[in-house]
Amino acid sequence: MNRFDVVIVGTGHGGAQAAIALRQQGFAGSIAMIGRDANPPYERPPLSKDYLSGDKPFERIMIRPEAFWAERAVELRLGTSVTRVDPEMKLVELSGGDTIEYGHLIWATGGDARRLSCPGGHLAGVHTVRDRRDVDTLMAEIEGGARRFVVVGGGYIGLEAAAALTKLGCEVVVVEAQERVLNRVAGPELSAFYEAEHRAHGVDVRTGAAVDRLAGEDRVTAVVLEDGEELPCDGVIVGIGIVPSVGTLMAAGAAGSNGLDVTDICRTNLDDVYAIGDCAAHANIWADGAVIRLESVQNAHDMATTVARAICGDPQPYEAFPWFWSNQYDLKLQTAGISTGHDATVLRGEPESRSFSVLYLKDGRLIAIDAVNRTKDYVQGRKLIEARATVAPELLADAEVPLKDLL
Ligand code: APR
Repeated sequence: MNRFDVVIVGTGHGGAQAAIALRQQGFAGSIAMIGRDANPPYERPPLSKDYLSGDKPFERIMIRPEAFWAERAVELRLGTSVTRVDPEMKLVELSGGDTIEYGHLIWATGGDARRLSCPGGHLAGVHTVRDRRDVDTLMAEIEGGARRFVVVGGGYIGLEAAAALTKLGCEVVVVEAQERVLNRVAGPELSAFYEAEHRAHGVDVRTGAAVDRLAGEDRVTAVVLEDGEELPCDGVIVGIGIVPSVGTLMAAGAAGSNGLDVTDICRTNLDDVYAIGDCAAHANIWADGAVIRLESVQNAHDMATTVARAICGDPQPYEAFPWFWSNQYDLKLQTAGISTGHDATVLRGEPESRSFSVLYLKDGRLIAIDAVNRTKDYVQGRKLIEARATVAPELLADAEVPLKDLL
């Protein structure tokens, strides 16, 4: 049996950064990183953007060159899942039968793309956009002539995929169940803007539209809506959120109801077991201490650094400031803070000019900003949020006044 001082499960942003941060902080113990994905660690955001559109090859989305991991004495076990965790014996069992003992275990498994549960949801030609294989399969079908796509879900994954497919010359219909796209993550101003942009690029955006079933024998040939309308297609992309990948650790006794509950240094209730990234439910100081999961590169990266510090004997609470981005067409959206729980929004600049911001307030305090093609607002707004500033809405709305002047 093998033993490693640190075993990292998951090779996404969180897992990779945990290994990187441990070595950066001088950790000299042994590290193993186990990943179900067959590829060395790579960035996930480009999968629905430049990797899908063909603008970036795989080599350019790898988190580090392939040789890096061996050079840093990080043992990679790729294409391998953890099938059982024994927190008493401090060991993990792997698909294939191996058993590895750990000193510390870092659970960085992220989430699995939710699938459509309706009839036809598992037909060939129905794709999720979560890992490289998903996107390679989709790209091969496009190269093979697939042209008409229905995207189910108007979150960032669905909208980014719609933009990338449009760029490749495909016809795209977006079907969103709620009354507006981006309903989970943004205010109505931003939703209305993105709906209009997609329509201007030829995308047929359907909101408040429910999928009844997918039609087809072996391959999907149409999406049938609940009102009976059929949307014929060569392929379907499903972007309806993720389910945290936590079953194996919960079966071992880890606590949590929406992902894994972690402390301010990302420790679970199991001895020497940490959880980071999309699957970690934590009290976030930028959401007034609400217990949330954050699905972002920033969160995975910064939680990994938090755990590396704790393991190296220098624990510091996770207080990193949340930020996020999305690229669609020539639009660069930058988000700072957490808008959940806002009670007012302020529009700054004209959406028609394709450069504007939406600011989110709670009890008069600025808590978040979405800036579209407006990096200055993003940078300066972020400082205002970090300063927990209370600012009059009319000043925020005045695009002539730089946000930095309101500090
Ligand atoms: N039919 C149509 N729309 C649906 C359905 C359905 N059956 N179920 C959910 N939706 C819609 C939701 O209303 C929401 O607008 O799908 C959208 C899903 O959005 P998100 O939950 O944000 O998930 P997704 O876009 O898939 O992103 C998943 O990838 O980019 C990252 O940060 C992102 O971590 C997130 C992850």
